[in-house]
Amino acid sequence: MKTIILNASPRKNWNTAQLLKEAKKGAESVGDEVEYIDLYDLKFSGCRSCLACKRAGIENPCQCFWKDDLTQVLNRIWESDRLITGSPIYFSDPTAGFRALIERLIFPALSYNDYSCVFKGKVDVDVFLTMNATKEHYDAAYDARMKEYLAPLRFLNGQTRIFPVCDTLQVADYSKYEMRGFSEEHKKARHEKEFPAALKLAFNVGAGIE
Ligand SMILES: Cc1cc2nc3c(=O)[nH]c(=O)nc-3n(C[C@H](O)[C@H](O)[C@H](O)COP(=O)(O)O)c2cc1C
Repeated sequence: MKTIILNASPRKNWNTAQLLKEAKKGAESVGDEVEYIDLYDLKFSGCRSCLACKRAGIENPCQCFWKDDLTQVLNRIWESDRLITGSPIYFSDPTAGFRALIERLIFPALSYNDYSCVFKGKVDVDVFLTMNATKEHYDAAYDARMKEYLAPLRFLNGQTRIFPVCDTLQVADYSKYEMRGFSEEHKKARHEKEFPAALKLAFNVGAGIE
């Protein structure tokens, strides 16, 4: 099984990345062919509306003709069995990089003749969302919003699962930042108590046993 793991957090070793690295270990433990990519290492933009994927008569419309660092990543996702990705929540949505990925990945799969799906493969998608918000706030304010936000992923023809990881630790030492709106004591206690279970969940997702 081919699994692509894509970190849509700009931070390469924090909450989102740590979860995705566990998912990678899980996927490797069951013999998957795994590729791990830090999205923010790449130079790319969102959809440029060049509409090349909608040109009449093209042989394979399900490709992004705009050439930048994302092009090959998109091709590899369409050829994979599984995409495991993750993003922090920024201002109530996933990151700008994640949005750009969705635009570039899904627009070529969407027919502008009849809104059907032109992608003929199947890619299951697991999305880890990390955030400051509590689980209660996620359920009340973000859950429905994220389901709608991620709905275009149905054009990959597989299942989409969302795993929220809430009330994350933002920095190692709060005394070095103007962040008095947060309690370091609470954040650290919560991190020690809850984050290991999230890492285990991520491993199991990677291993396909969750
Ligand atoms: C620009 C910015 C905006 C943020 N906006 C939100 C938000 O709207 N809701 C929320 O719950 N957390 C918000 N956060 C917090 C992050 O989602 C949270 O700390 C996340 O776990 C960071 O992921 P990382 O550790 O992988 O970088 C924001 C953080 C940043 C830097």
